[in-house]
Amino acid sequence: MTSYKDLGLANTREMFKKAVDGGYAVPAYNFNNLEQLQAIIQACVETKSPVILQVSSGARKYANATLLRNMARGAVEYAKELGYEIPIALHLDHGDTFELCKDCIDNGFSSVMIDGSHHSYEENVALTKKVVEYAHQFDVTVEGELGVLAGVEDDVVAEKSTYTKPSEVEDFVKKTNVDSLAISIGTSHGANKFTPSQCERNAEGVLVPPPLRFDILKEIEKRIPGFPIVLHGSSSVPQAEVDTINKFGGKLDDAVGIPESQLREAAASAVCKINIDSDGRLVMTAAIRKVLAEKPGEFDPRKYIGPARDALVVMYKGKNENVLGSAGKA
Ligand code: G3H
Ligand code: 13P
Ligand code: ZN
Repeated sequence: MTSYKDLGLANTREMFKKAVDGGYAVPAYNFNNLEQLQAIIQACVETKSPVILQVSSGARKYANATLLRNMARGAVEYAKELGYEIPIALHLDHGDTFELCKDCIDNGFSSVMIDGSHHSYEENVALTKKVVEYAHQFDVTVEGELGVLAGVEDDVVAEKSTYTKPSEVEDFVKKTNVDSLAISIGTSHGANKFTPSQCERNAEGVLVPPPLRFDILKEIEKRIPGFPIVLHGSSSVPQAEVDTINKFGGKLDDAVGIPESQLREAAASAVCKINIDSDGRLVMTAAIRKVLAEKPGEFDPRKYIGPARDALVVMYKGKNENVLGSAGKA
């Protein structure tokens, strides 16, 4: 057993309390490799923001669970070395079984998500409760989910989203004793969050998505006041990055994300954790494609992953400062 406390990590309880009271959201950024982690930590230290490092089961398979855990330990030291101590959580993103959650809890995670949203309500309650009972013995916090997001969540693909039913949230929170709740109000995973037919085109021909269902969020807040709410699928899919990718040989059609103005509105409410993965993927891919296209003789990975890392730092700092409002809150 490796406790997250021995790695210098924090659970999300205090982070969320401050975020709900302060009207901002803590960033939850996914990482799979060294450069993504370096960029997240540098950006969050430079903006003095708390941060949740997210690891999916796909990330654990890709990068190796032992390496990722020790990278998180290293991240704590690295942040101190950069000159400012920030709270850092290590969180399992979209855990789908009790066994996976247990394995993460036993191996240094300070927070886990048990995503039972694809099960029946009763099964979701039972699974979430079981994970919470295990996690709380070790002071690990747990995120549950009600409602289904469209798109890909690891191996689970949902074609259509099902909005969270506000009538279920109070009962779910009471029965499971979960610490935070991911809800579905119109966000979805990936870089194609809406089909063109769901959007309008503005004067420049850019797709404008339908607004998030803030009415559902308000109804949920009314039923569980002050309870920490989580928003998945919150990348904004910047058009400039998509254009760069396409300009340098990529092919991303009809990519569309959540406008930053709507995320700002969500962050000011009970939404206290905002999940962003795809924007990092886009920024990194755009920067790498650009270098490789402009310098075809380059074959030192540091020369193309390095600029991608620099671009990630700029993007994450911008999110903390201008979208989530987490800058200066560490
Ligand atoms: O919600 C999904 C996250 O973006 C993680 O994606 O399962 O491909 O690592 P992944
Ligand atoms: P995006 O695909 O919008 O970045 O969402 C990431 C996410 O929700 C991770 O759990
Ligand atoms: Zn997600």
